[in-house]
Amino acid sequence: MSRDSTISRRAFLRGAAGVLAFPYVVPSSALGKAGTVAPSSRIAMGSIGVGGMGTNNMRAFLAQDDVQVVAVCDVVKASNEYGHWYKKGWQGAWFGREPARKIVEDYYANKSQSGRYKGCDAYNDFRNILSRDDIDAVCVTTPDHWHAVPVVMAAAGKDIYCEKPLSLTIADGQAMVAAVQRYGTVFQTGTQRRSSQQFRNICELVRNGRIGRLKKIITSIGPNNKEAPPKDWRPGPVPDWLDYDMWLGPAPWVPYHKSRCLYTFRFGLDYSGGQTTNLGAHWIDVAQWANGTDETGPIEVEDLGGVFPSDGLFTTATKVHFRARYANGVELIMKTDPNGPLRFEGTEGWIQLKQGELTSSPESVKDSTIGPDEIHLYKSKDHHRNLIDCIKTRGRTAAPVEVGHRSTSICHLGNIAMMLKRKLRWDPDNELFIDSEEANRMLSRSMRSPWRL
Ligand SMILES: NC(=O)c1ccc[n+]([C@@H]2O[C@H](COP(=O)([O-])OP(=O)(O)OC[C@H]3O[C@@H](n4cnc5c(N)ncnc54)[C@H](O)[C@@H]3O)[C@@H](O)[C@H]2O)c1
Repeated sequence: MSRDSTISRRAFLRGAAGVLAFPYVVPSSALGKAGTVAPSSRIAMGSIGVGGMGTNNMRAFLAQDDVQVVAVCDVVKASNEYGHWYKKGWQGAWFGREPARKIVEDYYANKSQSGRYKGCDAYNDFRNILSRDDIDAVCVTTPDHWHAVPVVMAAAGKDIYCEKPLSLTIADGQAMVAAVQRYGTVFQTGTQRRSSQQFRNICELVRNGRIGRLKKIITSIGPNNKEAPPKDWRPGPVPDWLDYDMWLGPAPWVPYHKSRCLYTFRFGLDYSGGQTTNLGAHWIDVAQWANGTDETGPIEVEDLGGVFPSDGLFTTATKVHFRARYANGVELIMKTDPNGPLRFEGTEGWIQLKQGELTSSPESVKDSTIGPDEIHLYKSKDHHRNLIDCIKTRGRTAAPVEVGHRSTSICHLGNIAMMLKRKLRWDPDNELFIDSEEANRMLSRSMRSPWRL
């Protein structure tokens, strides 16, 4: 197989002159054995956002023999001010584009005979990655307010891994789904539980009726894990290692304070939906999988006592509690409960995962095996590997964009109901509230110029 006949997605798209939606297959013979993959056959990747999780994702792609990380991008040049749970033991807690470039170049240098390697570009502006037609795929691990724009722009020529929660608003998610579908992009949402045997097993037990007909799902999330700055906080000078205007991007312009950025962006509503979306996206994703509602949503959502701060720099919910109800009668609860369970209750029993321990009633349910003629859910053992495999086959990943969009949407619906302190009816087909224009206005937000979808 010559290099030219090993059609890459970028070559395909160039040749297609605008006719973009055809799937194609790269023959496995083109890829060689693990460890001996010719550079010309590797999938060239760029990592956009290389903070805590982005560095983690980049390392996971680096470890794939048939991937070559050729570029990294971050609006932080290098900083040790991320101050979060990666701090201990992670590169001395230094993140940003230069530490990321060093990780990549050291990794390939260690694998090369000469012990030297230069060949990873480091950019401040993600458009430098998107405009390179030698890059096949991107990994987007920016804060949530910076998912939609790069994904929609990248979809026209690159395959994508994008972190959860997929979106900042439901309209963002819809735009991402539309772009990915339009261009036939292979897309993986960073909800890794879709590649976990344990979660697949729980969902298969529920889907195959081991607890009878499913009635109720309880998802529990942790509280905010960082202290808010004092209420009389003052803006500070923008550090020289940060392009703050580019960090804010589509979000409103506000004076700099370090707690807005780097990890703690999660607690500002301009950048995130708080723990409702940050942690909730993982659990709701499992709930959707078990309920068999991956590409739809509930018909009702109701506040059960969510609490938002009245002032200060952190604006996301400090207590989450809402209920959603599906057309099939299943009730879904999300609440702040640090050691609470993921629990499925049915007409004939229950099964739950709490602090890593799986229990059930009847007890035999948790150890029950799924027979060959029963429902078997999508099997993936490794979330990053699954994307790469699907890029080659143009197959559907473990967590496609539609699935990521719908599970994140439920978190947004919960936030909207908690903010409005009421029950709202939702039309999952048209993705609109039925009885509240006020709530419908919260489905999208304007973006700061020049950014738009
Ligand atoms: N799947 C998981 O288990 C998991 C775990 C942690 C975080 N995440 C997700 O990863 C994303 C990032 O979270 P984090 O904890 O790594 O935050 P972080 O603050 O550590 O990293 C985000 C990085 O994006 C950079 N950035 C911001 N704007 C950018 C832009 N325009 N272009 C390029 N880079 C830009 C920031 O400078 C920062 O380095 C979030 O969406 C989060 O929900 C997922």
